[in-house]
Amino acid sequence: MVDVILGLQWGDEGKGKIADYLTPKYDVVARFQGGPNAGHSLEFEGKKFVLNTIPSGIFHKTTTNVIGNGVVIDPVRLFQEIDRFIAEVPDYADRLLVSKKAHLILPTHRIVDAALENAKGDKKIGSTLRGIGPTYRDKTGRHGVRVGDVLLPDFKARYEEARDRHLEQVKWLEYTDFDLEKEEAEFYAALEQLKKLQLINSEYFINKCIKDGKKILAEGAQGSMLDIDFGTYPYVTSSNTITAGVCNGLGIAPKHIGKVYGIFKAYCTRVGSGPFPTEDFGEEGEWLRKQGNEFGATTGRPRRTGWLDLVALRYTCMLNGVDELIMMKSDILCGSDKIRVCESYKIGNETTDEVPASLVESGVEAVYTNLPGWVGPLNYAEGFDNLEGTFKDYIQYIENAIDTRIKIISLGPERENTIVR
Ligand code: IMO
Ligand code: MG
Repeated sequence: MVDVILGLQWGDEGKGKIADYLTPKYDVVARFQGGPNAGHSLEFEGKKFVLNTIPSGIFHKTTTNVIGNGVVIDPVRLFQEIDRFIAEVPDYADRLLVSKKAHLILPTHRIVDAALENAKGDKKIGSTLRGIGPTYRDKTGRHGVRVGDVLLPDFKARYEEARDRHLEQVKWLEYTDFDLEKEEAEFYAALEQLKKLQLINSEYFINKCIKDGKKILAEGAQGSMLDIDFGTYPYVTSSNTITAGVCNGLGIAPKHIGKVYGIFKAYCTRVGSGPFPTEDFGEEGEWLRKQGNEFGATTGRPRRTGWLDLVALRYTCMLNGVDELIMMKSDILCGSDKIRVCESYKIGNETTDEVPASLVESGVEAVYTNLPGWVGPLNYAEGFDNLEGTFKDYIQYIENAIDTRIKIISLGPERENTIVR
């Protein structure tokens, strides 16, 4: 069976912490989409690591980690990432498998990303500038370069064909702020390292694991509101971040999907541009950003902050078939006398509890309910039943509103700050 863990909001829900926390129950942890736009933070034994492309199971000695075909890989960033944790897991390469069908982010994909964003003016997506969109565009446009291609004798010609095509576009966009020679040198050096990793047909590997009764955890990146089909288009990422993405991002049949864990923060954040109905531009939003240390793990950008959006959460639970909810960062709300949750959207004179097809044009206004806050601190060691009453009421309120159980509650970044009910 393949269980799934994924984000239900706009990313940064805490997938890294929970994937790491759940890893001991699994034989394999696999990434199925996204790339180094992700920033998954893990903290244990007083140490902190940020993973971008590598699955969050890498720190456990008995777990195999798979980067699936649906992921886009930047070899330069991959080895920078590995350098950050190699002292901790020097034998990482024994437990890391990379799909030959995963697409490569080329240096010019990053340059095209920057050139396109630059040309968009005030309509910027707020891309992480990691080359994600242009790489997926080449994949669906059928002229991408894949990991397995690095082993072919004509790799250089394939790369140069793609590079020249990208440079045409960059020239047309009149973008010049890059040093391709330096980036190409780093790229070719990283490819030599990439060739030494275990490059495989990961769909065969995963399906054999399923047949052998092994337990697999598929780790999502980004969040469902950034999904290319169902997110706040066009302010989205370029992959399917929802459960369905696990099937084509790893090459497994839907019947092998087991439990789906949906992660959400007790409030909401978003980085980059695009609709965010519950955004709080005032003091309370500032308070959330400060308390929650809401600055991007990948880019360091301050995150936009706001209140829990039950309309969006109900929508993403539906899209993903969420079995169990995981609530993160409840500790951040300690000390607030009232907590707001968005119950429905108002569009003109009408109220709806559906996410409109285009949140950008709809002009929705969030309709809030105020709930009493809690003082804290919330101590995991006391167990759920002994937690503060108003906090337990908040949990119950969300469970009733979404009709799904909150199984895990995280009260801090460290592994042990977690309550499983
Ligand atoms: P994790 O896995 C939050 C956002 C970007 C931008 C939009 C498109 O850490 O939750 P892209 O570079 O993908 O073309 O950018 O998506 N974005 C994320 N926001 N967390 C992430 O990943 C994100 N990955 C991309 O900020 O608005
Ligand atoms: Mg992140």
